Amino acid sequence: MSTFTQEMLDSMKLVEATRAERLHKELPRFSAEEKDKLLKEFHPDYSAKGFTVLSTGPSKGSKVPNELAVLLEGKSRLEGVKVDLGRIDYETDVLVIGGGGAGAAAAIEAHNGGAGVLVVTKLRMGEANTMMAEGGIQAADKANDSPVTHYLDAMGGGHYKNIPDLLEELVENGPLAIEWLSRLGVLFDKEADGTMVTTHGGGTSRKRMHACKDVTGAEIMRVLRDEVQNLGIPVLDYAPAIELIKDTEGKAAGAVLLDLDSNELLVVRARTVILATGGAGRLHYQGFPTSNHYGATADGLVLAYRAGARLIYADAIQYHPTGVAFPAQIYGALVTEKVRSVGAQLVNSKGVAFMNPLETRDVAAASIIRECTARGNGVKALDGVALWLDTPMIDMLHGAGTIEKRIPGMLRMYQKFGIDLRKEPILVYPTLHYQNGGILINKDAETEIPDLFVAGEAVGGIHGTNRLMGNSLLDIIVFGRIAGEKAAARAKTVTHGALSLDHVAAFATEREAAGIHTETLSPKLLPTYTHGRKTR
Ligand code: FUM
Repeated sequence: MSTFTQEMLDSMKLVEATRAERLHKELPRFSAEEKDKLLKEFHPDYSAKGFTVLSTGPSKGSKVPNELAVLLEGKSRLEGVKVDLGRIDYETDVLVIGGGGAGAAAAIEAHNGGAGVLVVTKLRMGEANTMMAEGGIQAADKANDSPVTHYLDAMGGGHYKNIPDLLEELVENGPLAIEWLSRLGVLFDKEADGTMVTTHGGGTSRKRMHACKDVTGAEIMRVLRDEVQNLGIPVLDYAPAIELIKDTEGKAAGAVLLDLDSNELLVVRARTVILATGGAGRLHYQGFPTSNHYGATADGLVLAYRAGARLIYADAIQYHPTGVAFPAQIYGALVTEKVRSVGAQLVNSKGVAFMNPLETRDVAAASIIRECTARGNGVKALDGVALWLDTPMIDMLHGAGTIEKRIPGMLRMYQKFGIDLRKEPILVYPTLHYQNGGILINKDAETEIPDLFVAGEAVGGIHGTNRLMGNSLLDIIVFGRIAGEKAAARAKTVTHGALSLDHVAAFATEREAAGIHTETLSPKLLPTYTHGRKTR
């Protein structure tokens, strides 16, 4: 059970005292100038201390988070190791690396395209950020909406940095993605007449967020995982890729895996490769907690980078405005944006609602950080400061039972620790949630390395430098399916030369020449929480 401190209880009284007056009040939005200023002064992406300029590799000269730079310029787990590329352990048409939503969607479509498919995952199929996604998936399928409007919203949210072709592909395929998922069996929330229930997210001009309560990702992953299984697609669990294999012409041609049970190396030869390894939250940039899955350690970025693929916007990180700040047991976990879209306001220690709750994420996170730091209006929570998310407003606005119906996952998460968010507000602070940038692809999901495709959070450019809520569940489906379809088609015609790991040695030589002498092994594979004790 968690116990609120006296300071929390005193501040909670101020929140309660202003609630009735705030209830129907429309809170103003920041102007464009205010947003720019806020971001520059308070968003962690603008902290010079948090970033390193890469000295080596295809994106040399680009700025990336310190913790990522160490891995991108790290030492391969195969340096000094003799791998026998003549001894093939697995052979397939399409190798899918990653068992989350993007990997599953890619595997299904590659299979449907007539290819032999092998999925390899670091943990188990479905143990990924997709499973933890809560609030919903955007798609412009209502009469008052269109892909063009969706495009404009996402462009604005992404600071006009989105790659136009990729964004167009995303929004045009939105309605189809919902149809595809529904056909496979995803149970989206519907009205009695069968109409999809849709809500706003931060930065959306139309209600286009489709949801399965507040466990949308888990429902989507449940269905995709079942489909992979039903189609008989083989899955190799606990076998992360630790290096891509190319052929002598520089095309992607497989991967070396590490069997986490036996510690053996496994060689997979493939005609085409799809990377769907997800995000990087477990690198805890700038010391932030994370909403991410245990395996989110940017492995795909490292593999692709070492093989010669460029990254884009790797310095654009998403801090979800509302991570759990109290109690300690769920510190950093996601409090879905849906809580704000169904009516909860962000309120400071004095009971003042200081911003419109549906600003875009980067702006909302920066505003919360300013309120807690420069303005001194935070509430002490654990080792930091936090603000209130006034959840009891939801049932007051929409009727008793709304919280139970629309955000039951949140209700249950807090109830486990003795907090009833129908009656008490909750304490939140930004948490590391998403990498907006990643590996550069074209609209066929292919990288600059022939026959290497990428889908999901490992991709950069779709969302510009700030993704809107619900566009990630959409992109894993849209680009997962495209990657699967294109990789399967390519696999029918591709021919490869001999397998090679020469790029690994070449990268090491370049790194040493750049004066980086490191013992840090990458990819990282699993986060380190051992405070100096040795792990694998
Ligand atoms: O707030 C959320 O439910 C997160 C959604 C997303 O990142 O798309």
